[in-house]
Amino acid sequence: MIIVFGSINMDLVTRTPRLPAAGETLIGHSFVTVPGGKGANQAVACARLGAQTHMVGRVGGDVFGQALVESLQSNGVQTGRVFVDGSESSGIATIAVDDNAQNNIIVVPGANGNVGQTDLIRLDELLSDPTTGEKILLLQLEVPLPIVVQAAEMGHRAGATVILDPAPAQELPADLYPLINVLTPNETEAELLSGFPIETVNDAESAARLFHQRGIQRVIVKMGDRGAVVGDKSGEHYVAAYPVTAVDTVAAGDAFNGGLAEALDRGESFDAALQQAMKVGAFAVTRPGAQDAMPTKADLQDFM
Ligand code: RIB
Repeated sequence: MIIVFGSINMDLVTRTPRLPAAGETLIGHSFVTVPGGKGANQAVACARLGAQTHMVGRVGGDVFGQALVESLQSNGVQTGRVFVDGSESSGIATIAVDDNAQNNIIVVPGANGNVGQTDLIRLDELLSDPTTGEKILLLQLEVPLPIVVQAAEMGHRAGATVILDPAPAQELPADLYPLINVLTPNETEAELLSGFPIETVNDAESAARLFHQRGIQRVIVKMGDRGAVVGDKSGEHYVAAYPVTAVDTVAAGDAFNGGLAEALDRGESFDAALQQAMKVGAFAVTRPGAQDAMPTKADLQDFM
């Protein structure tokens, strides 16, 4: 069983010829409102691939909140522990995607910022259920960091495999590292966490080694179309990316983590799970949107 503890956002997505400079006004191509949020995206990725997936988090008591819960449900995610927080608006992300598939994102947390102790109790109910076997806990950093740390502690104590996507990038407390089984930073996040630039595969290997030394069992530095670097106790190695033409890279990292978790949940080896993660991430960049870009098993079979 997979438990995702994290954010749920409505994405307000503008397609634009290029990303605007500071102070510049541009005429865009199109605008859509689609379900997103790093937590919810990862949950949909897992569920579309067939995993029993539970989401723990919050939406606001507004029309976005209702649509976000419906999207999770229609994709097969269990939402019994998604709380509708009437005191807040739903989290939103304003996203601009340009003709080269590059993007920038501003997130306003809304109800995600209220995720706290009662949500941890809901998480504990799932983690301590003896009838559901081994658990994988997926975490990201769009809900308050002290709560993410407590969620990691609870997952670690319960014997779950804890996978942290340290996005959006922020400093992490030293005592969080040993609670994490798999850390999946992209280059920007690895740069902030390591304190040195990640420009080459060698840099990514150095970062992976450093995070492993800080107590993480396995590190995957996601480098987009340049592939990934994996580090664990046996050293570091490079994995090539699937060659695809990107139309929208939003949520590619979430797709990757969902693909990794779903394969591990089926009992696949880490290497096989990594291959699936690379493929799911590659698939997602060939489709627009966040949750809408996540593949089913059938999509993956047809893909490449
Ligand atoms: O990782 C992509 C996600 O980041 C978007 O769906 C947006 O909501 C932001 O959280």
